[in-house]
Amino acid sequence: MAQLWGGRFTKETDQMVYAFNASIGFDKRLLPQDIRGSLAHVRTLEKAGILTEEESARIREGLEGILQDVQAGTLPVDETCEDVHSFVESVLTKRIGELGKKLHTGRSRNDQVALDMRLYTRDKVKETDELVKSLLEALYDVMAANTQTFMPGFTHLQKAQPVTLAHHFGAYFEMLRRDRERLADIYRRMNYCPLGAGALAGTTYPLDRALTASLLGFAGPTRNSMDSVSDRDYLLEFLSALSIIMMHLSRFCEEIIIWNSDEYRFVEIDDAYSTGSSIMPQKKNPDIAELVRGKTGRVYGALFGLLTTMKGIPLAYNKDMQEDKEGSFDAMDTAAACLRLFTGMIASMRFRNERMAASAAGGFTNATDAADYLVRKGVPFRDAHGIVGRMVLACMEKGCALDALSMEELRGFCDQIDEDFYEAVSLETCVKARLTAGGPGPEAMEAYLKECKAYLS
Ligand code: ARG
Repeated sequence: MAQLWGGRFTKETDQMVYAFNASIGFDKRLLPQDIRGSLAHVRTLEKAGILTEEESARIREGLEGILQDVQAGTLPVDETCEDVHSFVESVLTKRIGELGKKLHTGRSRNDQVALDMRLYTRDKVKETDELVKSLLEALYDVMAANTQTFMPGFTHLQKAQPVTLAHHFGAYFEMLRRDRERLADIYRRMNYCPLGAGALAGTTYPLDRALTASLLGFAGPTRNSMDSVSDRDYLLEFLSALSIIMMHLSRFCEEIIIWNSDEYRFVEIDDAYSTGSSIMPQKKNPDIAELVRGKTGRVYGALFGLLTTMKGIPLAYNKDMQEDKEGSFDAMDTAAACLRLFTGMIASMRFRNERMAASAAGGFTNATDAADYLVRKGVPFRDAHGIVGRMVLACMEKGCALDALSMEELRGFCDQIDEDFYEAVSLETCVKARLTAGGPGPEAMEAYLKECKAYLS
């Protein structure tokens, strides 16, 4: 077992203690980031005159060889090492000799791991943004094809007013657009380099931290060395953004599960995204949607886990912070998989437009419009509300829609009703009349889609 300390110890570490303390089992995925960070560190050491040009080149060549060999599978990660940092340093020293031991000059594992995790997370923020963007593109395609697909809009899961499928999807488009804004915001705030903070109090070597930062694509170095090694805010922010993304996907999944049910049949999930039952031959279950909804819990779990881990830690680094990794990695993997699968499910889903329109026509979603019609004929709104309520009750008894009542029946409720009533309460009219910006009306929707398209390109 390779450990980076031991000089002041007189006894071997207990085996169980060693295993409990080790992090290589999960931080090995930071190897590319660890090497990238070391490559930049070596250049900064060279600039400070701590390494000669020749030494710097040899160390960098050694580091690049390790990365290549690990990625090619010819150098297995030795899991008896304490962590990924010890592994890289021990292989380097084996390969290039004594010179390898100079790599860690002016650096601590505290700023090293802070850097590795930040580099890893920064890439994941970008990757998540790209996945959300792909989903937005899939949503846009559905919206553009369905501006005339009428469906009931719901409140309390009860049919409320008619909308269109494009309008309904537009709501999710907005949620996910905000998610991208959150990611961009996190990226901007986290994009500072902690390397050079040392263990906590900086270092006595004249390291040009601005150089390290720029070599690694950061906007600059972090501003306080104690904060640099103990800050995991960026990770909490990212987990929080991922939790909100998952919450959005989960709500969408819930709707898709309902819409895919035999009672609704608004959509049909593609066979490729459904699974069967081992006992009931007729079943085609929306498992992917259910799993995405279910996995939301573990992403929230990672956020709450880390918030709780961080809450009592005094400055600066404490080993508690090693616990920032497993839950975060799991949350990042989970959210990425959910985004990928959800996008595929939406892109392959069949929309049953006729079922949606029939549902919108059958559920008195035009009752508000009927009341508005009476208002236009001079009836005060409160009276109109009562009249239409009585009409709905009568229709429920008859089992018909408002516009299935005859003119005679209609006049029995209110003698101000004319032939133009039928046109006024048709689904087309009800949607068309909702002309306010942000509404489902055709003009508002056209302007909205144009804006969405410009946003995506
Ligand atoms: N494995 C550690 C972590 O993930 C690396 C930093 C160790 N630092 C230390 N002082 N023991 O946090």
